[in-house]
Amino acid sequence: MRILIDDADLTKIEQFFDMYPYDGVTTNPTILSKTGNPDPMDQLKKIVALMPEGTDLHAQVLSTETDDMVKEAEHMTEVLGKGKINLYIKVPVTANGLKAISILSKKGINVTATAVYGVMPAFMAAKAGAKYLAPYVNRLDVLGYDGVKIAIDIHTAVKAAGYEAEVLGASFKNSQQILDMAKAGIGSVTVGSEPLSKLAYNGIAEDAVKAFIQDFEGCCGEGKTMLDFE
Ligand code: G3P
Repeated sequence: MRILIDDADLTKIEQFFDMYPYDGVTTNPTILSKTGNPDPMDQLKKIVALMPEGTDLHAQVLSTETDDMVKEAEHMTEVLGKGKINLYIKVPVTANGLKAISILSKKGINVTATAVYGVMPAFMAAKAGAKYLAPYVNRLDVLGYDGVKIAIDIHTAVKAAGYEAEVLGASFKNSQQILDMAKAGIGSVTVGSEPLSKLAYNGIAEDAVKAFIQDFEGCCGEGKTMLDFE
């Protein structure tokens, strides 16, 4: 499963890429606003500079009218799409957004259908040519829906129809939601810093290691490791 970093903070992005071979970075207007940088294109360029070659950047349009969305996506592609990364333009699945997804896909611009809150809107975005479909798993849970089930249903419906689109699960608050995506064979997830940092590390292993060292030192001497013995 491809795992992307849902954050725009440069320090965190650098640290995450240093730790694991993550597959890219996703942003949205809220995530970008949290960096405090009033120039989002500058922030995105700085993010690209930190990203390994061949990884994916997903960045969202702000416009709400179809023609404006298309112009904005083309501008973003012009500025960000020529480098070492693969650029995906995030377009929210509104009525105007669906139309924009169709137009942009025909122009050969990679689109990620975002703000997906249901199976049918995602299916229609796939039909319109989106490459990725981003259901907001935890936000759906908060609204009283079953976000994991909706993501899995999208995956099943899109595969059954033979569309090219892949689910890019988004909006997670815990490891279980992400594990459910993996078990269902969902191809990609994007995860915020907090749940991302807990995927592999939860502190319990550190406690176990401390106990091992304490026991070993009690028998073999303080600070000793296997290097001290032949
Ligand atoms: O990028 C969209 C999605 O990841 C939103 O996540 O945590 O704001 O629900 P969140």
